[in-house]
Amino acid sequence: METKSEIIRIFIYTFLAFMTMATVLIFFFYFSRKKIIKQEIEKRNLEVNYQKEILKTVILTQETERKRIAQDLHDEISSKLNIVSLNSHLLISPNLSVSEIKEITANINKLTSTALESSRRIAHDLFPPVFEKFGLEAGIQELIVEFKSTNQFDIQYSNQLNLNEFNKNTQLGLFRVLQELLHNTLKHAVANTINITFFREKDTFCLLYTDDGIGFKISEDKKGMGLINIDSRIGLLNGKYFIKTAPKNGFEIKIIFNDL
Ligand SMILES: Nc1ncnc2c1ncn2[C@@H]1O[C@H](COP(=O)(O)OP(=O)(O)O)[C@@H](O)[C@H]1O
Ligand SMILES: [Mg+2]
Repeated sequence: METKSEIIRIFIYTFLAFMTMATVLIFFFYFSRKKIIKQEIEKRNLEVNYQKEILKTVILTQETERKRIAQDLHDEISSKLNIVSLNSHLLISPNLSVSEIKEITANINKLTSTALESSRRIAHDLFPPVFEKFGLEAGIQELIVEFKSTNQFDIQYSNQLNLNEFNKNTQLGLFRVLQELLHNTLKHAVANTINITFFREKDTFCLLYTDDGIGFKISEDKKGMGLINIDSRIGLLNGKYFIKTAPKNGFEIKIIFNDL
């Protein structure tokens, strides 16, 4: 009798122990799963917010560009054409002396040629014709000449790739990234030398850009429109990039990309 109730007791205890363990396990899995799902949702939210941030920057850049173009057109074209129009009306006024006619025509000529020059410059800033006609290689050469002409730094350029063979979108992406990097060095870095190198690494292509300027402490909130644009351009190329910079230590960006 004694042993029988003992067995039943042991059985009940074991059963209860198993039940408790099972409950603990169920709760453990339930809560850890909930935690994993929560983390997953937080990660997704972060990604969505980042995408939104990029989209906002793209739209903002577009608006800033539009404003700049509108201002350029207004200041350099419309205002001049206005005076040309006034001058040409003057030409039909009666009793003008020959010298007055000469003066007005000279004025019209001068204003139309500056307006023409400005429209060329505006079009060039928007999209360099040399890039369209001769591809990225020529576009980069032109960029280098333009930036060297500021006399702020020297630019060393070397290239092992055939850039013009890349897809047009890859070429344009790389061109815009280089343009922003050069602008940043000019605007912020106080550098003596810039190095631009294109090379092949295993199955991928690389662009290494460095300047020996003042550098900066990199952080998410430090990123302005320029760096966010670089980020989205490289994203569009399915590329990756690594920035190394610190105060007084120059700036380096290595971009790894594939052709599209
Ligand atoms: N080559 C560089 N040398 C030093 N500082 C830089 C360089 N590039 C970027 N920076 C710093 O990073 C900031 C963000 O750059 P960016 O996103 O291009 O915005 P913006 O040029 O409009 O200020 C700059 O304001 C500058 O402080
Ligand atoms: Mg910038």
